[in-house]
Amino acid sequence: MKRSDRLVSRRRFLQGVGGLALTASPLAAPFVIAQPARIKVGLMLPYTGTYASLGNAITNAFKLYVAEKGGKLGGREIEYVVLDDESEPAKAVDNASRLVNRDKVDVLVGTVHSGVQMGMVKVSRESGVLSIIPNAGAGAATGPLCAPNIFRTSFTNWQTIHALGKVMMEKGHKTAAWISWKYAAGEEMFGGFKEGYEKVGGRIVKELWLPFPNVEFQALLTEIAAARPDATACFFAGGGAVKFVKDYAAAGLKSKIPLFGNGFLTDGTLQAQGASAQGVFTTLHYADSLEIPKDKEFRLSYAKTYKLQPDVYAVQGYDAAQLLDIGLKAVKGDARATKAIIQAMEGVTVDSPRGKWKMSRAHNPIQDSYLRQVVGEQNKYVAVAWKALEDPALGCKMLA
Ligand code: BEZ
Repeated sequence: MKRSDRLVSRRRFLQGVGGLALTASPLAAPFVIAQPARIKVGLMLPYTGTYASLGNAITNAFKLYVAEKGGKLGGREIEYVVLDDESEPAKAVDNASRLVNRDKVDVLVGTVHSGVQMGMVKVSRESGVLSIIPNAGAGAATGPLCAPNIFRTSFTNWQTIHALGKVMMEKGHKTAAWISWKYAAGEEMFGGFKEGYEKVGGRIVKELWLPFPNVEFQALLTEIAAARPDATACFFAGGGAVKFVKDYAAAGLKSKIPLFGNGFLTDGTLQAQGASAQGVFTTLHYADSLEIPKDKEFRLSYAKTYKLQPDVYAVQGYDAAQLLDIGLKAVKGDARATKAIIQAMEGVTVDSPRGKWKMSRAHNPIQDSYLRQVVGEQNKYVAVAWKALEDPALGCKMLA
């Protein structure tokens, strides 16, 4: 049959169907091929402000994984509803409710800022919507407020810094100053650092805080100089981390009082920090030079797609998509089968660019903490600082 004949006969067939529909019953449905609805993923992340680069990296990598799977997870096409949470805790409940109740997302993915996360957790718990946290380390989300429908592919704040005290003592730094933003993440990280450092005999001689996302560091740097600790430990991330590391070096402190932190201090920031970051030691669950085939593949794919090097935030976003894929595959893409999705995601081992990690009973990664050192534009892997570190998840009823 010629192409023109085929078109004619197809038209006749359709006319015939239409005619049948009209004559057979005025109530008959028009001839449409049913398409399975797409799965709606709500991405609630910061796209403006000091954490904008973190939100973008998570989004890029989540979408990269989906694109690698042909735009589908568990056989279903993915549709994104993207919302800028501005790292603003006061708007968090309203923003998350809008995604769940107005936009009717099947899955809520977010966020970066621990304070915003607490609002999201409230909405997740009340609505029962499947939720994946791709960064924010608020301990309560997988501690006292843990819930079957809430999973995390990143860390708890405690986990990122628990090993740092031991590292600093091994380098002979017996006293330390602490500096950070005063909000849930900074406070929980301070708790984790203090616990680990004091356990091995370290002493914190100065605690300095400033409100998030303030970057007026000068007066506090003068206080660090006056306190003369052996070293400084800190938490900053994103744009604030860039400025802090530069200001610390410009104040002449870097060579006198070595700077340490969890890896957010130097992750995704090195190009902007330049010489001021060279040599800084940090602990984190990712490094730029891991000898892991999965990481090499991921880095190549990310760099090719975005013309950027990936960072820890990208890895966590990629794993959020991987985890969702595992859940959806188990139910052949039926997003309403929440119970079975949760079951498939529980206790899973994720083959991550950071190395394989296991989901804890509280729904948080059990993962290695790496010691890294800045060399050029890389957070070079130095050693495993803590093997298979698991957050204690105190108060999580799912542990009982
Ligand atoms: C937090 O608020 O939990 C957070 C933000 C940036 C990096 C790490 C943790």
